[in-house]
Amino acid sequence: MALVSFLSAKGSPGVTTTALLSAALWPHPCVLLDADPAGGDVAARVPAVDGGVLDPDRGLLPLLTSARRGLSGAQVLEQAQVVAGGTRVVCGMTGPEQSLAAGRGWSALANAVADLRDGEVPTDVIVDAGRVGADAVHLDLLRAADTVVLLVRADTAAVLHGRERLRVLGGALRRPDGLLPRTGVVVVGDPHHRDAADAAAVLTSVGDWVEDFGRLPLDPAGARVFDGARSARPERTALVRAGAPVVAALAAAAHGELQRGAA
Ligand SMILES: Nc1ncnc2c1ncn2[C@@H]1O[C@H](COP(=O)(O)OP(=O)(O)O)[C@@H](O)[C@H]1O
Ligand SMILES: [Mg+2]
Repeated sequence: MALVSFLSAKGSPGVTTTALLSAALWPHPCVLLDADPAGGDVAARVPAVDGGVLDPDRGLLPLLTSARRGLSGAQVLEQAQVVAGGTRVVCGMTGPEQSLAAGRGWSALANAVADLRDGEVPTDVIVDAGRVGADAVHLDLLRAADTVVLLVRADTAAVLHGRERLRVLGGALRRPDGLLPRTGVVVVGDPHHRDAADAAAVLTSVGDWVEDFGRLPLDPAGARVFDGARSARPERTALVRAGAPVVAALAAAAHGELQRGAA
């Protein structure tokens, strides 16, 4: 199985949208963990598969508050709910206070999902890690990832903040064995515009360990599909069409099928 975490440095580049998009297009069985320490958004944004609302009492909150004696993968999967479109989601925390109070629960969660199986079926884990700053309470979950993806909008301020965050993550994500998760960027901006290419060039210049995982277009109509809007043909939106090869490359990278930098 693979564990892939999406995160941002600052602002709202589209982490939740991209995590939902990735889970919807993922080529292997997967579950989405809404692990934004600022509080989960997915439950409020996406309806349940039957069109109703998701059960707010199921998700990370009961898991993390009972995690002191460790957690199993089965316990994590018991908290998953199926949303419209078929993605399994473990809904998020109510807010930063609960995330802080969870303390060591985050590392128990990281251990529980590091080799997740649904019965016999290896199950990949896609993490919405939200904004990751100096106050990150869930670093163990990021360190356990096979692949860490920083979302950055293609504007100057966002790129500079992204570059700084990558520099810090290069140290913070290093595991005791000295290895780093595969780490890279997805730039959100017009894929045909020079800004997006320039942004990717600045971000990957931080080190040869920073990969360029591709571009996603700015597509408000496509993004609304992952914000609870009904869409007759979501697969026709620019976001889903452009997202498909990016998600395929991420899945291949997370399963170790690509050479570093080949995405
Ligand atoms: N590729 C995109 N194109 C256009 N709008 C987007 C895109 N990704 C996200 N958005 C919009 O930007 C806002 C923030 O997205 P969200 O996924 O919640 O960001 P984050 O999780 O980083 O805070 C939402 O209104 C969402 O619909
Ligand atoms: Mg979010």
